[in-house]
Amino acid sequence: MKIGSILENQSIEKRIAITPEIVKKYVSLGFDVSLIENYGTHLGIKDEEYKIVGANILKDEIEVLNSSEIIVQLGMLPDDKASNIKENQTLIGVLNPYNNKDKLENLVKKKINLFSLELLPRITRAQSMDILSSQANLAGYKAVVESFANFEKAIPMMMTAAGTIPAAKVLVVGAGVAGLQAIATAKRMGAIVFATDVRMASKEQVESLGGKFLTVEGSENLETEGGYAKEASDDFKLKQEELLSETLKKIDIVICTALIPGKKAPIILKENMIENMQSGSVIYDLAAIQGGNTAFTEVDKIIDRNGVKIMGESNILNKLPVSASNLYAKNIFNFIDNLFDKENKKININIEDEIIEKTLIK
Ligand code: NAI
Repeated sequence: MKIGSILENQSIEKRIAITPEIVKKYVSLGFDVSLIENYGTHLGIKDEEYKIVGANILKDEIEVLNSSEIIVQLGMLPDDKASNIKENQTLIGVLNPYNNKDKLENLVKKKINLFSLELLPRITRAQSMDILSSQANLAGYKAVVESFANFEKAIPMMMTAAGTIPAAKVLVVGAGVAGLQAIATAKRMGAIVFATDVRMASKEQVESLGGKFLTVEGSENLETEGGYAKEASDDFKLKQEELLSETLKKIDIVICTALIPGKKAPIILKENMIENMQSGSVIYDLAAIQGGNTAFTEVDKIIDRNGVKIMGESNILNKLPVSASNLYAKNIFNFIDNLFDKENKKININIEDEIIEKTLIK
């Protein structure tokens, strides 16, 4: 079995899908690993390190694509590269099926096997392959670090001879994977943390991390069977707005993470709510690339509204690409380990397996 990977467009994606540690694991499964030269150079990983653990380093991207039965990437390959993939080859990554519908349909017509790992079911057996969790966890952590770095006051309470500095107050909107890590990180740094979500199950999780959960009174639980959020009703949105408007007046830092799969992110912080916040406050919007949770979010910009900074990046994971790649590469390996029929030494697209069935693009 031959597996390979080429570099992403590095101006938008610095993560890689195969690390030297993971090459060893593929080799022990009996795989041949081919990578384009300088695959990990930008992350401080020399070609030599890959060669030592058994990878082939090739000079030509097309050769990597043509010779690999399985191609693993981060995002969807650009058209000129995807056109080199042939029948029966397999492409695995975060293929963004909602936005790349036509492209993926064309590849499926060519009988290419496509697996998109953001479609992975949130079940216990899939946890070690869950790229959304591994990456969102790091994003939640980094959003706190970035927003704190842009906040011009101290975070923990400090009692000094010169006077007392109060602890910063943080609000986390959306307490899923990223939000829960944001709460944990902000607590560790000494902030007082509030959080809200439309899924009632998250209340207990927020409280177990020492956060204060803000419940939208009289609201129903908006959780789908798969554990994701449903779109809120107009009535809910109004009640949430009332609750958050008051809270935001005393909040220093907001971390936004609210998402609804396959839809534009809900706008939760409206113009008037932000305009009533204290000058010097910072909002980090992790939902920026999905349209943003605030009325003012602009991707890769820091917007200033009456002294409130609103930040959001297209790919915050580019700020910790080494950690993100290490986890992503492990997730992908675990997925392939499940897909690989070790007796017959080939991949087995067993659609009775929920993990395979849900991630396969049909
Ligand atoms: P996500 O990234 O799709 O959304 C982030 C959060 O935003 C969610 O908690 C969602 O409820 C919340 N949200 C959406 N609209 C909102 C609104 N209008 N106001 C406030 N909050 C809003 O979700 P994520 O982080 O990927 O997690 C989704 C679910 O998957 C959770 O139930 C989590 O516990 C579950 N999960 C299960 C795993 C497992 O293996 N069993 C692994 C990882 C996550």
